Amino acid sequence: MSKKPLILGIESSCDETAASLITENEQGLPVILSNIISSQEDIHKDYGGVVPELAARSHIEKIDWIVEKAITESGRRIEEIDAVASTAGPGLIVCLSVGLSFGKSFASAIDKPFIAVNHLEGHALSPKLISKVNYPYLLLLISGGHSQYLNVKNLGKYKRLGTTIDDALGEAFDKTAKLLGIDFPGGPQIEKLAEKGDPNKFDLPRPIFNKGGCNLSFAGLKTSVLKITKKIKNEQEKFDLAASFQKTIEEILEKKTIIAFEEFEKQSSPKEKIFVVAGGVAANKKIRSILIKLCKKNNYRSLFPPLELCGDNAAMIAMVGLEKFKLKQFNQFDHPAKPRWPLDENAAFLKGSGVQL
Ligand code: KG4
Ligand code: ZN
Repeated sequence: MSKKPLILGIESSCDETAASLITENEQGLPVILSNIISSQEDIHKDYGGVVPELAARSHIEKIDWIVEKAITESGRRIEEIDAVASTAGPGLIVCLSVGLSFGKSFASAIDKPFIAVNHLEGHALSPKLISKVNYPYLLLLISGGHSQYLNVKNLGKYKRLGTTIDDALGEAFDKTAKLLGIDFPGGPQIEKLAEKGDPNKFDLPRPIFNKGGCNLSFAGLKTSVLKITKKIKNEQEKFDLAASFQKTIEEILEKKTIIAFEEFEKQSSPKEKIFVVAGGVAANKKIRSILIKLCKKNNYRSLFPPLELCGDNAAMIAMVGLEKFKLKQFNQFDHPAKPRWPLDENAAFLKGSGVQL
């Protein structure tokens, strides 16, 4: 029996400090041995968003014992680790630097290869931790920082089909929640409040619904929510606004996903069509059920990583590390932290006013 690679993954790009050890079974499928995630929700909740300096300080305080816990829970010894993979971007530079420096020092201390991982590639490969998934597949990444449709052609090979031209979807949920007086991160709360409201009470805009391919836009929605919140008179109207917001997002994603299916099929013709939805917003049950239905109708296998692998975690970073380790794609210890690091380097920058779609 050959020794299977043992990879330590480290994540600190935003407000989660995380470490994980993964390996492979005899069939070559990944096995998660430990997956430790420490969230900083309590630290940032009063500020309505992540405060970079506070986040970085918290990463520094926690990173060593999180990694220690991941190793202990894995049941393996430090000497057995074959490579260390750390997120190098995109993200907040002060946060990235913590996990990146720690990973490099750790790899150097145990004299093993170091692998710099793109956080978005982690999300993209996260379904591989739960299921056999062949390239190419279609990915919808919806998190607090990103909203993109990507053709995942291979490790390191991505074609962006659509992206948000302003806010990320998680950000839109969080901003709407803030306007309704809900603490950060408000996405999960909006989903709960929406269950008690009338989704047809308020008519909210659906920016670039009928143009821009499968690009997305949510900023206009937030402006409209702001106007309505000023007129809200009671709790029930708050629920109605949450429900109307949730419904509008479902309609946007349904329409844009149909376009993404078409674009994906123009570029790739896999034996099995697979649609992966990853990132924190993929935890939203109604969004899940709408997209699952759409997949059934269009002959796609839908894949949603489980909740602990949907949000930020280090198992997905170790997953990229595992694939790169097998291809001997290692990095030098001077690899920089990259606050901006798109998966598709050739895709046009589509943010800000004046964007032409
Ligand atoms: O992927 P993630 O954990 O972190 C990054 O942003 O990378 O995503 C966090 C985002 C937050 O904006 C949070 O409000 C949103 O995911 N979120 C949700 C739900 N659960 C988390 N949004 C809507 N419905 C949910 N159930
Ligand atoms: Zn993320």
